[in-house]
Amino acid sequence: MNQLARRPMNLSPMEEARQLLEAAIIHHKGRPVGTAAARDPNLASPNYADCFIRDFFPAALVFLNEDKPDIVKNFLETVLELRNQQKQVSGHQIHPGVMPASFHIEQTDDGAEVLAADFGDRAIGRVAPVDSMMWWVLLLGAYVKKTGDHELAHTDRFQNGMRLSLELFLRDTFEVFPTLLVPDGSFMIDRRMGVYGHPLEVQALFFGLLQTVLDLLPDNDDTCRKLRGMAEERIKVLRTYVRIFYWLDIERLSEIHRFKTEEFGTGSVNMLNIYPESIPDWLSNWIPQKGGYLVGNLGPGRMDFRFFAQGNLLAILFGLATPEQSQSILNLYTEHWDDLIGAMPIKICFPALEGVRWQMLTGSDAKNAAWSYHNGGNWPVLLWPFVAAALKSGRDDLAETAFEQACNRLPKDRWPEYYDGHMGRLIGRRANLYQTWSATGLLLANQLLEEKKGLELFPASPESGTGED
Ligand code: GLC
Repeated sequence: MNQLARRPMNLSPMEEARQLLEAAIIHHKGRPVGTAAARDPNLASPNYADCFIRDFFPAALVFLNEDKPDIVKNFLETVLELRNQQKQVSGHQIHPGVMPASFHIEQTDDGAEVLAADFGDRAIGRVAPVDSMMWWVLLLGAYVKKTGDHELAHTDRFQNGMRLSLELFLRDTFEVFPTLLVPDGSFMIDRRMGVYGHPLEVQALFFGLLQTVLDLLPDNDDTCRKLRGMAEERIKVLRTYVRIFYWLDIERLSEIHRFKTEEFGTGSVNMLNIYPESIPDWLSNWIPQKGGYLVGNLGPGRMDFRFFAQGNLLAILFGLATPEQSQSILNLYTEHWDDLIGAMPIKICFPALEGVRWQMLTGSDAKNAAWSYHNGGNWPVLLWPFVAAALKSGRDDLAETAFEQACNRLPKDRWPEYYDGHMGRLIGRRANLYQTWSATGLLLANQLLEEKKGLELFPASPESGTGED
């Protein structure tokens, strides 16, 4: 029987979380290189034994805060090497900058240990791991800030790694917006959920990546200078665009409600031709007088009015939202605590897709039934960005309340991956137990809140005003 299947007695929640983290460490050739996504003896899917790039991020920050940078360095190097494992698909080539979603150790016939990566070629639904490169760069930035090891970032391998990713993100495409265009399921929500296009979470991560590369990429050759210039420009236009066009509060909703449509030409107000008829019924009563948020997705004729937690919280943390908008987003949490936090912090998105919308947008995905998993489930891992965003905005009280709620419940429930129900009161129907990032989310939140460590490891926009660029 898995040791973890029996709950250890007399351990504090933090000690239990630590034990889970230690047990999840993956070694390769005697070196720690990452952590398995879950330690449940009955895994919901075999790839939860993999180390996912996005899942390792909170674990890595926990290690950095504890002055244990070696595993983080090994992980950064390992992922960089794994990029060469990409298989060529006949007829099209995946850009060499793409990093895998996850990796694991395999035994060869002659007993040797090899690392095997998943570039979306094994993942359920074959989804593209767009956010991996962003989490990797953010982690490199945090590692360098914490250790001062600029040498690592300046090696040819690492410079090349960053340059390739940046080239890919800044490439000319058919796009007319400053936001990044991605396919469905290319980030934490790695299933079909109507999140293709320009989802907020990807834009917040993109913004964080651009700021980080400016710290790490030297300007000693023409290619780098050109890339730096493009990144600087993109930061400005992306920030202005998101702050204006993704923002929603009661005033903005009134404007959209009264929008004229079919406006032609450069002076149009309703630039994206959003039809007022697309405003969902739940919204006008739900949006508070004082409070607002960045909408989930935006494109031609399309505003996804759902509230997505991670995108909003990272937008606060990285300075993509203005300070006023950040306060408004946190006000939304206080006004709608039951909806957005409920019994277990934090709701991944609100509201859930139901009925025909669920059928159409998820393809009738039973795992993403209404108020479950990605479709309105509550995810303990999202505690850390909530705590970080609240602390950054001086709303320590919110961080403390959410933290206590999670702390009281997670160990008893054996660290579920997610919770179900409008209020998040039920352990997720198909959730793993002993999900590593549920434990590292709590550990990192504790370091941020109690030990006052780690907030300085995130990229923060130097611009703090509210104005447009
Ligand atoms: C699920 C989640 C994804 C996570 C993975 C491993 O696929 O949707 O965000 O990285 O599990 O925990």
